[in-house]
Amino acid sequence: MHLVAILFLTKSPVRKIVIAGNWKMFKTQAESLEFLEGFLPTLDETPQDREVVLCVPFTDLNVLSKNLHGSRVQLGAQNVHWEESGAYTGEISGLMLTEIGVRYVIVGHSERRQYFGETDYTVNLRLKAAQRFGLTPILCVGETKQQRDAGETESLIISQLEKDLVDVDQENLVIAYEPIWAIGTGDTCEAKEANRVIGLIRSQLSNPDVPIQYGGSVKPNNIDEIMEQSEIDGVLVGGASLEPVGFAKIVNYK
Ligand code: PGA
Repeated sequence: MHLVAILFLTKSPVRKIVIAGNWKMFKTQAESLEFLEGFLPTLDETPQDREVVLCVPFTDLNVLSKNLHGSRVQLGAQNVHWEESGAYTGEISGLMLTEIGVRYVIVGHSERRQYFGETDYTVNLRLKAAQRFGLTPILCVGETKQQRDAGETESLIISQLEKDLVDVDQENLVIAYEPIWAIGTGDTCEAKEANRVIGLIRSQLSNPDVPIQYGGSVKPNNIDEIMEQSEIDGVLVGGASLEPVGFAKIVNYK
């Protein structure tokens, strides 16, 4: 192959590959330990340049923190409040998360936006707070089926990025493109289309080396095609991250 073509097809060596599981509201502490028993041994074959993250329910964080010690898995939470402490029933602060060894936090997942009234304004506050406490936020953006069908995908994503990223440090950030219609549906976005939208996201950033993931029905049988795409630097995996053997296949994609 021509050298120029090789250069264009290869991902930037600066961009980190981040494979993250999002357990959502699944797994008790006992179930999370059972998962680790099956999952941790499979990481012996994982290439060193891949960051592996598990974003788990709050009640699992402490037990995982203790049991991930010395492993290469980084711990992630699924939300963070913008204050250090205060009268915010049901919320959790960055200080509480970092104290137990949490390194990543998902912010602005579509389920938070859809069911819990999360707006671009609160997403922005949470992103800035995460960074203030030394966490790396994984910002989720993506369109609904209706918005896609109406041809609004690009404008929606540009608008989400514009509002969500005000005063956010792009040196400590991961973005996940998660088309809402592909989440939990088995209806994966075509790899080339995901690559196109992720290219658009990258074109909006001041730091082009921000790792950008794809999320939405990622499975062992589609991970290779997804990770072959030049713009895609990793995946955010819901359902398929709950089962150790399947998630190991995703983490150890070829
Ligand atoms: P899914 O979820 O892999 O089950 O589609 C992805 C997500 O919501 O992050």
